[in-house]
Amino acid sequence: MCGIVGYNGKNSVTDQLLDSLELLEYRGYDSAGLATLNGTTGKVKLRKCAGRVRDLRRICQSDKKISTCGIGHTRWATHGGVSDLNAHPHRNGDVILVHNGIIENYEELKDHFMLHKELKSQTDTEVVAAVLNRLYKGDPHEALRKAVQYLRGTFALVVLFADQPDTIYAIRNVSPIVAAYNDNGTMLASDVAALGATAEKYMVVPEYVITELHKNEIKLFDLEGKPVEPEFITIDWDTTRDGKGNYPFYMEKEIMEQPDALKATMEQRIVDGKIDLSSDGVPDEILKSCERVCVVACGTAMHAGLVAKALVQSKLGMHMAVEYASEFMYEDPVIDEKTLVLAISQSGETIDTLEALKYARAKGAKSIAVINVKGSSIARESDYVMYTVAGPEIAVASTKAYTTQLIALFLLVGRMAKVRGIFDDAAEKEFLGHLVSAPEKMQQVLDQKHDIHKIARGMLDAKDAFMIGRGLDYSILLEGALKLKEISYIHTEAYASGELKHGTIALITENTPVVATVTQSRLKDKELSNIREVQSRGASVILLVKEDFDLADAEYADVFMLPAMADEFMVFPASAALQLLAYYVSMDKGLDVDKPRNLAKVVTVE
Ligand code: AGP
Repeated sequence: MCGIVGYNGKNSVTDQLLDSLELLEYRGYDSAGLATLNGTTGKVKLRKCAGRVRDLRRICQSDKKISTCGIGHTRWATHGGVSDLNAHPHRNGDVILVHNGIIENYEELKDHFMLHKELKSQTDTEVVAAVLNRLYKGDPHEALRKAVQYLRGTFALVVLFADQPDTIYAIRNVSPIVAAYNDNGTMLASDVAALGATAEKYMVVPEYVITELHKNEIKLFDLEGKPVEPEFITIDWDTTRDGKGNYPFYMEKEIMEQPDALKATMEQRIVDGKIDLSSDGVPDEILKSCERVCVVACGTAMHAGLVAKALVQSKLGMHMAVEYASEFMYEDPVIDEKTLVLAISQSGETIDTLEALKYARAKGAKSIAVINVKGSSIARESDYVMYTVAGPEIAVASTKAYTTQLIALFLLVGRMAKVRGIFDDAAEKEFLGHLVSAPEKMQQVLDQKHDIHKIARGMLDAKDAFMIGRGLDYSILLEGALKLKEISYIHTEAYASGELKHGTIALITENTPVVATVTQSRLKDKELSNIREVQSRGASVILLVKEDFDLADAEYADVFMLPAMADEFMVFPASAALQLLAYYVSMDKGLDVDKPRNLAKVVTVE
């Protein structure tokens, strides 16, 4: 997703902009650019290109780099292809701007302001620059105030006006902007990660508030021109990243970090052998009184919700809804003050999840966010937050965030069972006994990564693959299929194995790769018979099976024994195996494992 940075201070900004853009690369992008404004000469320098930040740095190499005010951008294409022309910043007359979001009515605005002849790119952003320039008569506030009345959609706009050489302006709706003081002056960015190590506190730019970044002051004004008091949040966590270490890709490093990440996520929440969520500030009352639980999330985070659903229904005897956040608001969900909404998100910036959470809260629901990034938009929007302690997750394919989300959710469900009188001390002790063994069971799988690498080699030429399982195995495989498809580009679908016969088995032909997971005792026999059905049609089956299950006599292409845990905890060893399988297929295919094509780490457009 697009990344935005802005600097205004005493030192040259070009290198600072480039360094901060590199900190935003993890969000996913396809082009980059920056613009600087020389306070003395009023000269604007605009550099941009399709490609990486390193390509932009090369373009800037011969610049004098004397300007001390500038803005930068990494673009993830939404309107208009990947090209130098479509990269940001966009300039129209006195207006130079960068944008994150989607302006839904940009075509109407082209007609309304008769802009067609002067536009050079296919972007909605250039339309905004042209509209703003039309409305600009020397007063930036007046122009911004009028312009945002025309805009429909989401936007984080950061603007330079060529005749206002010492001020950066910003205004947002939904798409995030944070601002901070640093050792050079003032800065803003799309998220805290780009603020760098010198920022000690930051503020979230409120929606529809005009923000001015001066050399040594951040000023806020509402649309009537009244000053707004900024509210700062102390950065009391490590926002720096320690690189890939000895790993070829962040993804492998993050897969290997999971046992420690799980332990770190449990640490504060198991006190004297009991589940204790007081460090999260989650009151027992809402866990006890809610009559319905609903998860809103996307992608991997939603798959974590599916695992939690199995637990809530089996342990609490409560129905639980797990909704795609992007669908949630449009299906007229039944939400009221008795609903507990769980918003799960690694980045805490996924706009679909943020909007779904706002919608649920507006309907009276209480909310708990399960988040990996402190101070993120979803964390700030939620009543309560349970932070996963996975550390920065850089690879687009989520791994340690997923399994630490599971830990947080397991603990939450365990606490709900206790406060509802379903768990007595003995049951809580048994539940935790399984949970605390998850890191070690995952480690056993990670120690066998070379065996999984061998299995992966059998899938490199596949165009299509299936993953089949029942019950919790099906939920586990939905995540396994997402991992494989998003980084290997093999069209992979997970299916409830009982559903195959109702159409999809028509796609199984000779040597079609099928990954089958069998970890649930009560479903084992049915799962094994479904496996035989696909084998009888020529499928090449890779079996991931709990180690203490006796295997049927059928031949398998490969078998990987998963360290045994109680059925409902088997997601931990199984997901480690599926993550490694996807990783090695992608790596052996020579793909960019950490930055797969078309994808972004943070999806900030709906
Ligand atoms: C998972 O590997 C993908 N990167 C993607 O599905 C991701 O889980 C989804 O975009 C949600 O992101 P979030 O957890 O940051 O909200």
